[in-house]
Amino acid sequence: MMKKSSSPARRALHAIAAAVGTFSLVLFVAPSSIHTLSAADPAAAGTTARRSLASFDTMVERSARQMMEEGRRIFRFDTFGDEVYWTDVLGLNRAVAGEKNGGVGAGVSPKAALELGLKVDMDALPADLVTRIKAGAVNLDDPATTLALIKLNAVVGVVGTTDTRGNVSRVGLTCAVCHSTVDDAFSPGIGHRLDGFGNRDLNVGAIVAATPGVGAIAKVLNVDLATVKKVLAAWGPGKFDAELDKDGKGFRPDGKTAATIIPNAFGLAGVNNHTWTGAWGNVTYWNAYVAATELKGKGTFYDPRLNDPKKYPVSARTGAWNTRGSPDMITSKLAALQFYQLAIPAPPAPAGTFDASAATRGRALFEGKARCAGCHVPPLFTEPGWNLHTAKEIGIDDFQASRSPDNRYRTAPLRGLWTYMKGAGPGATGRGFYHDGRFSDLEQVIRHYDRLFSLGLSETEVKDLAQYLRSL
Ligand code: HEC
Ligand code: HEC
Repeated sequence: MMKKSSSPARRALHAIAAAVGTFSLVLFVAPSSIHTLSAADPAAAGTTARRSLASFDTMVERSARQMMEEGRRIFRFDTFGDEVYWTDVLGLNRAVAGEKNGGVGAGVSPKAALELGLKVDMDALPADLVTRIKAGAVNLDDPATTLALIKLNAVVGVVGTTDTRGNVSRVGLTCAVCHSTVDDAFSPGIGHRLDGFGNRDLNVGAIVAATPGVGAIAKVLNVDLATVKKVLAAWGPGKFDAELDKDGKGFRPDGKTAATIIPNAFGLAGVNNHTWTGAWGNVTYWNAYVAATELKGKGTFYDPRLNDPKKYPVSARTGAWNTRGSPDMITSKLAALQFYQLAIPAPPAPAGTFDASAATRGRALFEGKARCAGCHVPPLFTEPGWNLHTAKEIGIDDFQASRSPDNRYRTAPLRGLWTYMKGAGPGATGRGFYHDGRFSDLEQVIRHYDRLFSLGLSETEVKDLAQYLRSL
């Protein structure tokens, strides 16, 4: 029996060893352990099995470290070849450079870039540049300075390719442009990277609208240029519409933008469904979706549910549901990218941003009288299992829910909520709560539930509950 199972086990060990680059080590260890395992002496077998397991543990740990580092690199710097879109189709590089630097228009100076919500990674700046910025000796009104920053890999989520003459000839975007911010340690918008924090300063719509190739989006959506510009202008800072190029819906029936808040991408381990509406798939599904169809990198994304001419007319027409970019620069990166994403914890609320004793009282309400914990199950703060609800269950309209495969909203995992509160810390801009930011503060969210579920919360209870939410 042992012999039978040892062969596939050895094959598996070899496969994993090859993957983490310790092939020769295992070739040496594995055959001897297999030999001993089939021997008669159970004590000896136990010892050797323990030893080979220990070496497998090392392999696992090494793999975890590699995935972590590789995933972080991908999250921050990998464009998946999306320069074909951001440079060749939209011409973002030309919009940044401006006419004076061989591009179009006024260009994007560092000041303008910061106003658009782009962030600068101070750790990528050489010491002498930091000194010169501090001394006011760097022209922050000149688009050429932005190009220099891109060359240094200092503009978070914007990656440049430098040509033989040293000019930034191509640019692409990474996950970090929307899902990282900085801690403002140097000055507003300039600091150390904070991966996973939704960048709710970033005005994606304004950036895209300023590109010379924006007409390409009108073509995809089968509308005129003015309509596309109207749609993009309505997004505003901190929002993006990840379904527009599938269902073509620019506005809700009430006339407001169909874009949603750019959410945090931390604290996601243990959470089943993702995005505001869920039912797409897990983190790796969504990563492939975004890399191939939103960033428009080169690679594979497949979901036949989106080949539905009624629900997803644009996707059905363009074939986005079955994207086969070649060469595939996405698929090989999904494992490490997912690993890194799941490793990013929700950041604890900064000290002094909530009242601890009120939060303790609020917790009792959350788990008791206010009945929040039934859906926001601690400590994940979403349901283990199928964490989705109809619009009716949470007392709101179903516009956004109906754009997702299951027509539901996902129970938002509440940790790190403080990052949505204006002034609560780095990256905390305050665009409101719920997928569209419809509630401007936590008290409003609680009062909504109070009415919906007839909870009978007093004003003090509302405040205590809000303090608890701030503490998560
Ligand atoms: C242009 C901005 C933008 C970029 C770039 C972007 N995202 Fe997102 N991301 C969003 C928005 C908006 C949502 C919410 C979508 C929705 O609910 O429809 C989202 C949702 C997510 C979620 C779900 C979070 C949750 O709470 O479940 C994950 C995970 C994620 N993005 C990862 C990534 C990764 C990885 C990349 C790079 C491949 C990426 N995103 C690139 C804007 C962006
Ligand atoms: C029936 C399940 C359910 C119950 C009960 C419930 N929630 Fe929610 N909650 C949700 C869903 C679903 C969302 C996502 C709404 C959206 O995406 O617009 C959400 C969103 C939120 C948000 C916004 C999170 C964000 O990222 O913007 C907060 C805050 C919140 N709930 C707090 C509470 C509190 C406090 C209670 C108790 C008074 C409660 N919830 C009860 C399902 C529930």
